[in-house]
Amino acid sequence: MWIPVIKTQQLENGRFVVRLEGEKTPVLILKVGDEVFAISDICTHDKNPLSDGPVEGYSIKCTRHGAKFDLRTGKATLPAPRPVKAYKAKIEDDQIWLEV
Ligand code: FES
Repeated sequence: MWIPVIKTQQLENGRFVVRLEGEKTPVLILKVGDEVFAISDICTHDKNPLSDGPVEGYSIKCTRHGAKFDLRTGKATLPAPRPVKAYKAKIEDDQIWLEV
């Protein structure tokens, strides 16, 4: 089911963190160019938020120990032991929508 989560104007520097009903962790929404991505905002290594990490291509880097997460799939590099949850996201009618 697709749900509207924020207006595109709410993105600050292309980023926004939301809490979704029924989800344990906050969700980081990122706009990169014309594309939008959404992943859990918590590093699987030691629970650092990912929202302030640098983005390079399709990956975001955890600022604590440098694990990288693929924005499209959530796939992780060491030292993160597991991927983060990745959500399908889209922009439609000036809204960001996530599939939950
Ligand atoms: S807390 Fe993210 S790499 Fe260690």
